[in-house]
Amino acid sequence: MQPLSFGQKLRNAFDPIHSVAHLSTLGLVVILLLLLTPGVVTASEEAGSYATAAGGCYGCHTNTTPGSTPFAGGRELKTPFGSFYSPNITPDIENGIGSWTDEQFVKALKEGVGPEGHLYFPVFPYTSYTKMTDEDALAIKSYLFSLPPSPEKNKDHGIGAPLSWRWLQWGWRLLFFDDGPYVPPQGASAEVARGGYLVDAMTHCGECHTPRNFVGAVDSSLYLAGTSNGGEGELVPNITPDMTTGIGDWSRGDLISFMKNGLKPDFDDVQGSMMEVIDHGTSKLTDEDLGAIADYLKSIPPIINRVTRAKP
Ligand code: HEC
Ligand code: HEC
Repeated sequence: MQPLSFGQKLRNAFDPIHSVAHLSTLGLVVILLLLLTPGVVTASEEAGSYATAAGGCYGCHTNTTPGSTPFAGGRELKTPFGSFYSPNITPDIENGIGSWTDEQFVKALKEGVGPEGHLYFPVFPYTSYTKMTDEDALAIKSYLFSLPPSPEKNKDHGIGAPLSWRWLQWGWRLLFFDDGPYVPPQGASAEVARGGYLVDAMTHCGECHTPRNFVGAVDSSLYLAGTSNGGEGELVPNITPDMTTGIGDWSRGDLISFMKNGLKPDFDDVQGSMMEVIDHGTSKLTDEDLGAIADYLKSIPPIINRVTRAKP
């Protein structure tokens, strides 16, 4: 067969049958791009409940005493600086966030600034949520606002001065808070970019799996490399793909089933706060998103960091 001349190619492109084929390929590409773009686009309740699970809001904002109302706060969060008590984020006007506007909600979640201009403590991981899309943030708000309001009153934090002085957060933020959207690693595939968005902006794995310095800021040079002194003194394993000290020997499937049901490849059960992350968070995510998280974790630089329990 003769190779086609430029003119013939041009004519073929305008040929109705060929151009329909081209248009549908174009359409498919557009749809695929939309699907692969990080962020949930519709603010429907389903998207909101999904984004809320991905964001892991339930664990911190629900008290552990049986029968506690979801998202009504009062959960004690022990840190080296004292105990914090999470606030009520149900849509109660007086004691929850029922009177908040969309702008106020996005500002709290992504900038760590409250409606009266007060600065939140970074136990509230706005340092991760800053990377969340506004669509996901507002989807979470619409889900929370679809729940029954709870009149649960907020408790004061159990931390002493000067740490309790909110204005001091100003200096901390200046040193340690980088706001702005999620930027995927260079050359990342769409799956890896989606996984990275879920890990960094939503599920905030690094808030526990990356060690912190003495003022409580995460040490990005040990990104996801684990710590023997996590929140509540927990041992938090290295989840970089290092073969000996990390999870380099876990397969993609191992990671997916762990995030679904907490079973490790050595058949050990998961313990502690990771169990909550799985129960109210990752187990609710689609296989596609869990696969993206696994792909991302396998793509990050391995870091040698053996996490061991301190000798008693
Ligand atoms: C690691 C625990 C933790 C997680 C996870 C968490 N929060 Fe919070 N949140 C807190 C704490 C603690 C505060 C109070 C901070 C302060 O007083 O400075 C807070 C404050 C807030 C506030 C401000 C409420 C007010 O009355 O001023 C909102 C809104 C909020 N969180 C929403 C969320 C949403 C939505 C998510 C999930 C995307 C979430 N939080 C995840 C711990 C957490
Ligand atoms: C609230 C803190 C917290 C968050 C957030 C968190 N983890 Fe964990 N994770 C832990 C703790 C604590 C353990 C140890 C649990 C155990 O020993 O059974 C753990 C264990 C693991 C393990 C098992 C590793 C091993 O060697 O046994 C994997 C894998 C893991 N986490 C992945 C993740 C991923 C992925 C995310 C984000 C989607 C995440 N974690 C978010 C606290 C957390």
